[in-house]
Amino acid sequence: MAAPKVENDEEFRVHVFSSSSELLEKLHEKWNSVKELPYSAMYSSVFGGIILDPAMMVIPIDDHMVHRGHGVFDTAIILDGYLYELDDHLDRFLRSASKAKISSPFPRSILRSILIQLTAASQCKKGTLRYWLSAGPGDFLLSPAGCPTSAFYAVVINENFSQCKEGVKVITSMIPMKSPLFATMKNVNYLPNVLSKMEAEEQGAFASIWIDEEGYIAEGPNVNVAFITHGKELVLPVFDKILSGCTALRLLELAPKLVKQGRLKGVRTANLTVEEAKGAAEMMYVGSTLPILPIIMWDEKPIGNGMVGELTMALSDLLWEDMATGPETKRLLVPYA
Ligand SMILES: Cc1ncc(COP(=O)(O)O)c(C=O)c1O
Repeated sequence: MAAPKVENDEEFRVHVFSSSSELLEKLHEKWNSVKELPYSAMYSSVFGGIILDPAMMVIPIDDHMVHRGHGVFDTAIILDGYLYELDDHLDRFLRSASKAKISSPFPRSILRSILIQLTAASQCKKGTLRYWLSAGPGDFLLSPAGCPTSAFYAVVINENFSQCKEGVKVITSMIPMKSPLFATMKNVNYLPNVLSKMEAEEQGAFASIWIDEEGYIAEGPNVNVAFITHGKELVLPVFDKILSGCTALRLLELAPKLVKQGRLKGVRTANLTVEEAKGAAEMMYVGSTLPILPIIMWDEKPIGNGMVGELTMALSDLLWEDMATGPETKRLLVPYA
């Protein structure tokens, strides 16, 4: 954001809003100039309801998620008016909350109902649903003891995504990865992930790959990673030190279809060394907002023949098919009004 233009610093006076209506007017001015609103609805347990006015989609500054990072989050995709894998994401969300010692202000069934009602109120048919559990607002200390109640927030983001058909370049990340306790829970402390993504972008790559202390392949900054060996096996790094991605787990369930067709020889998780991984025939990122992104170069060296892999795209088709026409257990029809 550009700094305000001033002739000299001593003359600069910061504006004091005289009333909340003046502030709101200013916020509305900002949002009214936006052609398409990116956020169509938000829920806040602090407000106790759904907010449709983007100017009011805010959270308190004394919320411990803001100033201490004491919060966890998760996502779900909205495709053609269906929520994909909501229950899987919700289960991981509550596992993360438990590891972060945040107790939800509502039981799981109410959280789920809020998320469905929020999506319905948003009228969004394609986008993402993101939600957070926080230690809550209260004070600026470390301990959440002064927070009267935890908080639940959620927002619907209109996004137009489509199947990724182009391959991307990746680099090995030099940013230290999180220790297993923090990497296996989806908490809001994503600074290492942000720096790792920026590090890649600075080098003209799409994103990076983390390698753990023992030299095994870990994950990307907000995605899992998967490989096809020259022996036509699908191999994903084991999940004990990284986030167990809902998409990666679904991929492991769906991929045996390609084994049945004789296109893949096997499907497994394993500790993969850098040498094994760099020598793979195909490589891809796996994550809910992709769901598969082919990787064709790693540290300036081609993966396989340097082209988008055929089996990578077959796996991508399997996941897209599942998102578009999969079973009821994976797709929930949003009850739009
Ligand atoms: C660090 C990290 N790893 C992996 C993933 C992929 O998980 P999912 O497939 O559930 O989106 C994510 C995305 O949430 C992530 O943030």
